[in-house]
Amino acid sequence: MSSPHPRGVFVTLEGIDGAGKSTQFATLVGALREVGRDVVATREPGGTPLGERIRELLLHETMAPSTEALLMFAARQEHVLRVIEPALLRGSDVVCDRFTDASLAYQGAGKGIPLDRLQALAHWVHPGLRPDLSVLLDLPPEVAAQRLLGRDADRFEREPLAFFERVRAQYLQLAAAEPQRWLVVDAQAAPERVAETLRAALQRLLEAHG
Ligand code: TYD
Repeated sequence: MSSPHPRGVFVTLEGIDGAGKSTQFATLVGALREVGRDVVATREPGGTPLGERIRELLLHETMAPSTEALLMFAARQEHVLRVIEPALLRGSDVVCDRFTDASLAYQGAGKGIPLDRLQALAHWVHPGLRPDLSVLLDLPPEVAAQRLLGRDADRFEREPLAFFERVRAQYLQLAAAEPQRWLVVDAQAAPERVAETLRAALQRLLEAHG
């Protein structure tokens, strides 16, 4: 049975802390809305009332890396079932600040959880759901760290540079393995230039989506 609406597009935004996601998240959402599309703007961990409570625990409580990974996917399960899939099915676009790639990068490469375990969780929590476009805002961790100075750091932001080197390398590896899904952007470029690149990528995505 075919759905009465064409499915919306699913766009995710990734990068290490300090990459400038907030600004470019607004670019992605704004660019889709400007062309008249209905957009659900959301984030992970979070995006549902329960997910936001789990986010508070994740950002501030000490826990084992495996607990952290499981809580990320617990929050994601609620988000996928209650927000992301219903939105895409009714024809709305979803722009999500981080998704499963963040778990592969942070809990996998960062914290040492084997990638196959995380992939098994992803397969359980969202079989068949994968972003149509994932934007990686890429920059060296030492530059990102400068940008975060003076901010009230959460548990992740307090990790050492070596942690963010591993996270960055994993993101780049994911992007290289699936170049058709990823757009890797130099996050050290002027924000307006980054925004232009993102708007062009969205235009291509919408043309291909039909
Ligand atoms: P983030 O969106 O960067 O929060 P903010 O910009 O408000 O500081 O996300 C919070 C943190 O969660 C970030 O440091 C990355 C981490 N994270 C993971 O470790 N794994 C995941 O699967 C997700 C979604 C986020």
